Formats: sequence, structure tokens, C-alpha cells
Amino acid sequence: MANADVSYCKIPIKLLVKYNKKFPFDVYIRLSVDKIIKISKENDEITDMLLKYESKGVQEVYVNKMEFAIFLKNLKESFTNKFFGPGKPKTVDEALELVEQGHSVVREGFAKLGVHESVVDMAKEVTRQSMELMKKVPNILEFYTTYKEKCAPAFMRGMLVGYTSSAMIEHFSWQSSVVKQKAVMAAQLCDLSLSLDEYQELLMWERGEVETKKLDPNIFNHPLIVADMLAVESGGANLIAPEVINIIKQHHERPDGTGFPKGFSHAKITLLAAINIVAASFIELMIENHFNLEKKDRILSMIQLKYNKGNFKKACEALMAMFT
Ligand SMILES: [Fe+2]
Repeated sequence: MANADVSYCKIPIKLLVKYNKKFPFDVYIRLSVDKIIKISKENDEITDMLLKYESKGVQEVYVNKMEFAIFLKNLKESFTNKFFGPGKPKTVDEALELVEQGHSVVREGFAKLGVHESVVDMAKEVTRQSMELMKKVPNILEFYTTYKEKCAPAFMRGMLVGYTSSAMIEHFSWQSSVVKQKAVMAAQLCDLSLSLDEYQELLMWERGEVETKKLDPNIFNHPLIVADMLAVESGGANLIAPEVINIIKQHHERPDGTGFPKGFSHAKITLLAAINIVAASFIELMIENHFNLEKKDRILSMIQLKYNKGNFKKACEALMAMFT
């Protein structure tokens, strides 16, 4: 018996089925909150057994935390090959499934190992592949309507905000794929520390159903918790770009100072953070309105009215430019 949350890292069973016949580590399943058992030994052939567990409804298996970093390193190489090698996904559905599973191991990696090089490399790879997906399905509406049932809500929002930020950035003279990559990565990592329940409460805040001061401290402080978690230096350099960290720190601020955790007014919000905030507000309203395009103009007017100062004004202009 062991505490599964502390000593082990979870891996989606589907991901393991795809990547390995002989798996170089012991594999475990979780029976209850504090009970975990070994189901295979190092280098066992595990595919058939995993498929059997999957058919019984098991969605995740576990590996020892110490071995997870090595797993991530192998996965990153395999992940890259999966996209560019002969076995690359034949459909967007398959590619999206891989990206979502990649995202879930990145999340687990940051939570359990912190900013370890293997996690950062995998996060960058997942970001790159997300951007490739965006090129394959350039229409946000089509992406949302096709995949909303297949993706977890937090992952879907991260993708949609990444999409929108990236398209907004194209309207600035300083745009580049490197900047877009930073915006997409921030959109995918900004809520890293939140549980599912906390994420639901956050969405209620977005919709104006919960006051800022009533937010749970974990939610109120998550922009700083995640930013601090990611702001690690190695050899004098940041492993995650400072612009990504700053977007995350500011991603729930609002131009009138009603956001959190700092309650900054518009003058302190950087342009990249303003782009993320405007993109996220737009996406939230579009989701609330089931991406009904007839409501788009009203939504854009609401956004323009709310985000009309400093860098927010520039971000709004870029959002409007997407539709002209
Ligand atoms: Fe957030």
C-alpha cells in the first residue's frame, strides 16, 4: 500500500498502449485513494493487459515518480516521431487525442516533478503539436463544434484561447511564430495547479457568478502559484520564457482592477497578457452562447466596451481585425 498521489505519476492508459510494447518500468493501477498495486514488471509485454484493463473502464495507470522523468524523455522523442514518422496520425482526431494525452502528462509532470527539463521539453513539444493542429483545422468554430464532446473542458479552453491569441498576434507588426508559441503555451499552462472542482469555480467567476473576494485561496492565488512553479532557472537561463510566466501571472487581471490576484489596473498589464485576457473572455462568451455566430457581433461589442484602455484597446483591435 502507498499513497498514489505522492509517490506515483499517472499516465493515460491509451497513451501507453500506443507507445510501448515492452515497457521499461513497473506499472501500477490505483484501487482506491491510498491503495496502488503493481500489475507488471519492468520490460513485460503489457499491451494486451492494458487493453484488458481499458475494456474494464480503467483510464490511467501509474509509474514510480522517479521513473516518470525518464518516461517523459522517451515519450517526447516518441511523440515527435509519432507526428513526423511513418506512423504519424492519419486523422485530426488521432492527432488531437495524442496532444490531449501529451498535455495531461505535462500537467502531471509539473505537479509531481516541478520544472524538470523533461517536463519542459514535453510541454514545448505539446505546444508545437497544438499549433500544427490549429493549422490543420484553422476554423475555431469548426474545431469547437467537432471536438467539444471529445476533449476535457480545460484542455478545450486552452486550445481555443491559444487559437484566438495566435490569430490576434498576427495583426501586430512584431508577430512571429516564436511569440505565438509563447501565447499558446501560456494558454495551456495557466491553470495547471487547479483541480477539476476549482476549475469549475473559476468558470463561475468568469461568468460573474462568484465574486473575486469569495474565491477559494487556491483559486485566487493560482496565477502566482503556477507562475512561481514555472519560474525556474537552470544555468542562469529561464527554462520557461519570462513572457509565458508573465501572461500566467496576469491572466485573470481586468482593466478596471476587479481581477485577481493583484487587482492591477490596465496600465500594468502587458500587451501579451492583455491579448490572453481578451481572447479568454471572448472564448468564454462564445462558449456560453454555443458559438452561435449570430451573437458574435453583440459579443464583440461587449468585449470592446469592457476592454477599452491601454494594451487592452490594442488587443481588442486585433480581435476585431480577425473578423474583418
Ligand atoms: Fe486561470
